[in-house]
Amino acid sequence: MNILIFLGSSRTSGPPRPKRLGERVCLACSHLLNNAFPSNTVEIIDPLDYDTGGVFKPEFAYSRKLVPEDLENLAAKIKNADAYVMVSPEYNHSMSPALAHLLNHFGSSLFSFKPSAIVTYSAGQWGGARAAISMRTFLSELGCLPVSAMVHLPCAQEVFDETGHTLNPDDQTQWDEYLYRTLAQLVWWAQASQQQRDLVDPLTTSKAFKDSPSQRNAPGKS
Ligand SMILES: Cc1cc2nc3c(=O)[nH]c(=O)nc-3n(C[C@H](O)[C@H](O)[C@H](O)COP(=O)(O)O)c2cc1C
Repeated sequence: MNILIFLGSSRTSGPPRPKRLGERVCLACSHLLNNAFPSNTVEIIDPLDYDTGGVFKPEFAYSRKLVPEDLENLAAKIKNADAYVMVSPEYNHSMSPALAHLLNHFGSSLFSFKPSAIVTYSAGQWGGARAAISMRTFLSELGCLPVSAMVHLPCAQEVFDETGHTLNPDDQTQWDEYLYRTLAQLVWWAQASQQQRDLVDPLTTSKAFKDSPSQRNAPGKS
């Protein structure tokens, strides 16, 4: 299976620190997935690697032949993925605007009928728990339902080094066990949904909205 880890920070300058804490958290998730579930492929999606253009225009708003290359490439990766790890810092008690902005470029049909895992972190003591609450709503609407367990990493700068391993080697096992609970749920649901997607194409029973958001409306409201 293919698992994408979305990095929810696009900062290129400090303070607080020049390098993003999110890089460490994504690497920690990647190490855990690679070690515990080696048959899967894992890729970190860094928003700095994708040019989404200046003025907001989602991938699905372009005529098919004119989709910018970066958006086309990322859309293909999202479509081919079986599960998503959404790694977000907490910004003003909310999910990262960088992550929301990147995800808003893609239609829910690319994410639908697959699971996601919510991983939040912060430099402070709450570990992004407040951001995580709104992520459940966001990711459910996007179609990639979040698994029940979540990861929250308070003071992530004191937990992981820049390689994604614990600063104190003695702490590695307990943090691995903490990450494993959520990521093992993700892999379980990813396998289950992959098998079911192979049996029944979900878009035959739940059609994608293609024309207008009003397709979601209750009868008589369009
Ligand atoms: C605009 C902004 C808002 C922030 N809001 C919060 C917050 O609400 N809660 C919190 O714990 N940390 C907050 N922080 C601190 C972040 O946890 C910290 O900067 C972290 O390193 C951000 O992740 P990054 O380094 O991957 O960009 C905020 C930081 C910024 C830049």
